[in-house]
Amino acid sequence: MNQNENQRDDEIQEVQEEEVQQLIQCLEKANFMNSKLQLVKYQGFWTSRGGLKNILHYQRHFQAHDSDLIVASLPKTGTTWLISLLFSIVNRVKLEHQPLNKKSPLLHHNPHELVYHLEHGVYGKNPILPNPNQLDELSSPRLFYTHIPYGSLPKSIKASSCKMLYIARNPLDTIVSSYHFYIDFIKKATEDQDFKPPSIEDFFDDFCEGRSMTGPYFEHVVGFWKESLEQPSKVLFLKYEDLKEDPTFYSKKVAEFVGFPFSPREESEGVIDNVSELCSIKKLKELEVNKNGAMNKYVDKKTYFRKGEVGDWTNYFKPLMVDKIHKLMEEKFEGTDLSFKLLPNPQ
Ligand code: A3P
Repeated sequence: MNQNENQRDDEIQEVQEEEVQQLIQCLEKANFMNSKLQLVKYQGFWTSRGGLKNILHYQRHFQAHDSDLIVASLPKTGTTWLISLLFSIVNRVKLEHQPLNKKSPLLHHNPHELVYHLEHGVYGKNPILPNPNQLDELSSPRLFYTHIPYGSLPKSIKASSCKMLYIARNPLDTIVSSYHFYIDFIKKATEDQDFKPPSIEDFFDDFCEGRSMTGPYFEHVVGFWKESLEQPSKVLFLKYEDLKEDPTFYSKKVAEFVGFPFSPREESEGVIDNVSELCSIKKLKELEVNKNGAMNKYVDKKTYFRKGEVGDWTNYFKPLMVDKIHKLMEEKFEGTDLSFKLLPNPQ
């Protein structure tokens, strides 16, 4: 970048900083998990105050290509799993003559280094990821993920023919997973030695009232569900619990949806099983690259992999809390045909 371009970039940044501060003044605010990390409610969803500027950049500047493949999700609903599967499916052709689980880049990179987080990775200017100026140089299909609700996505994502894969997870396991992840996240983000995490019951209440990262949860899920029904060739709606039950079936479904179907030869040679095995939490969690190091200043790589189970919530929630979620599901999913399995099938 030459000096003029640098200057122009600085000017754009400065104007936006002022604008962001003005915008923040008008937004509803909440302290996330009683911490010093402030959330703001922007266009109906909650995001960190410090990350709002990234989102504005992303919304205004991201130019989707028709060939882009974008995973969408709420945090802690299986994003890491789906981006690993997507990456492996799309890139398996490049590894045709080498067994996937011997040569895959996933063996040496955290999945979030291979499929890029748009709003807080690319537009957050994470030094290990491509920056916005490098996006056009990426080979096609470009693979990304985003946590922004459908209605607030950049216009070009909605207007282009790019494909989106949404992963949803039952609210109870999403709450438990978020609780663990965000305690770590807040400790790192705020460096506040006095931070005392709320009880999981208080965290649960906040979640039910809609105060969760990029939530409200129910509106996010229903938004993508509706789009998947209205635009089935654009949005594929997947559930964590279904993937858990039959990873091979859903890997095939993903491969067909994104235009990289498995051939009968691949199927008979066990390529699909190799993909699902490589992307299993058991395999990814034991890789050195996922045990050590940080993705950025807020997230250690190991925090993307915890238990990866359906029904862990049974270790945390009392019957009254479960009833509350049942009632919320009835209310928020009414007329949508949407439901979640809350427990794994008995063996
Ligand atoms: P738990 O905290 O319940 O274990 P995200 O990737 O959206 O942040 O979601 C993280 C959740 O998905 C965590 O759930 C994590 O353990 C689980 N997970 C990560 N990789 C997985 C995989 N390969 N298979 C199944 N679950 C996975």
